[in-house]
Amino acid sequence: MKYGDIDFDTYLKTHPDKNGYFGKYGGAYIPDDLKKAMDEITEAYFTICKSSKFISELRRIRKEFQGRPTPISYLERLSAKVGHVQLYVKREDLNHTGAHKLNHCMGEALLAKYMGKKKIIAETGAGQHGVALATAAAYFGLECDIYMGAVDIKKQAPNVARMKILGANVVEVTDGLQTLKEAVDAAFAAYLNDYKNCIYCIGSVVGPHPFPMMVRDFQSVVGIEAREQFIEMTGELPDAVVACVGGGSNSMGIFAGFLNDPVEIYGVEPLGRGPKLGDHAASLTYGSEGIMHGFNSIMLKDENGDPAPVYSVASGLDYPAAGPEHAYLHDIGRVKYGVVDDEETIDAFFTLSRLEGIIPAIESSHAVAYAMKLAKEMDTGSILINLSGRGDKDMDYIIKKYGIR
Ligand SMILES: Cc1ncc(COP(=O)(O)O)c(C=O)c1O
Repeated sequence: MKYGDIDFDTYLKTHPDKNGYFGKYGGAYIPDDLKKAMDEITEAYFTICKSSKFISELRRIRKEFQGRPTPISYLERLSAKVGHVQLYVKREDLNHTGAHKLNHCMGEALLAKYMGKKKIIAETGAGQHGVALATAAAYFGLECDIYMGAVDIKKQAPNVARMKILGANVVEVTDGLQTLKEAVDAAFAAYLNDYKNCIYCIGSVVGPHPFPMMVRDFQSVVGIEAREQFIEMTGELPDAVVACVGGGSNSMGIFAGFLNDPVEIYGVEPLGRGPKLGDHAASLTYGSEGIMHGFNSIMLKDENGDPAPVYSVASGLDYPAAGPEHAYLHDIGRVKYGVVDDEETIDAFFTLSRLEGIIPAIESSHAVAYAMKLAKEMDTGSILINLSGRGDKDMDYIIKKYGIR
């Protein structure tokens, strides 16, 4: 399918280019030493992703360890509540460890093993990426350091406990706002010190090349499965696909399956407390071009051009940029990006739980809230939502802050 000048038949093979660019976004803006380390990772990735041994090992892990394919569920009662549109969810909450993050963590850790690295390190916001990476480290027998902001450590206590039980070392980050951006800064600094022995397993489609490409490729299993399952269930494609966007990994995963189809695609950003800078983390909606954490993308900046402080009720979404591929898909118009605020999100969290017996992660609740609004605007048709994770990690926090609704 052609969209403007872009041929989506070959898009996933031709994007990014060999230097890691999606149009003007992406690249690797890092010191020379680190650039060498990234080049090694790129070379190793291109070698193993063509190797039948690696592909069959990853397939086996996905089936036997992760429990893939995850199903699609039809939301009968929620669909009836919002009107005439049929709503469906891709159940990444049923992926082992409760979110989509394990899809790229098992791939990244398998790559680390192949490269002979002893340790994997990463940042985490909501703790889902940290738990997934700690799980992968335990599975492959690797050491694991997870950097996490002090605020998120308090907010996501169950995930901190899980990481520790799995044998990971959780490093508390007390700089700045003590959330996801500072955790990324700290993990980057640690990686710079020890890049020969470890791999920084980035938690989303962000960071320098090859991470935005590699994480998207590992996550694309979600979209590939979802497309086939949806057609099998309904005989047709969905009219729209909706996913939340923090850095953008769950969304790129499901979008990858539908970019070449006549399907409307929506990414949902967190509007938090409102549109004032500092009250939200809707980088594509309100941001502008800039470089951060080694890549060029669209980001929220303060008056000095540095990454702005951001806020969202969802720890996994409060990052001041989105991955470079999202910036590109935003600019060419193939994906539309919208926002929902904290209140709409909490409302969707309780509505999905009550009507369907599925407690969603607060991050995923953003996608559910947006789909509910979109369904009211559409007369008929179907919407497939990526339910990126389960909400067990958020229950204590939500009950304390909002009570039972
Ligand atoms: C359940 C869940 N969904 C979504 C996200 C956002 O990340 P991404 O935009 O990379 O999918 C997170 C991040 O922690 C998460 O835990």
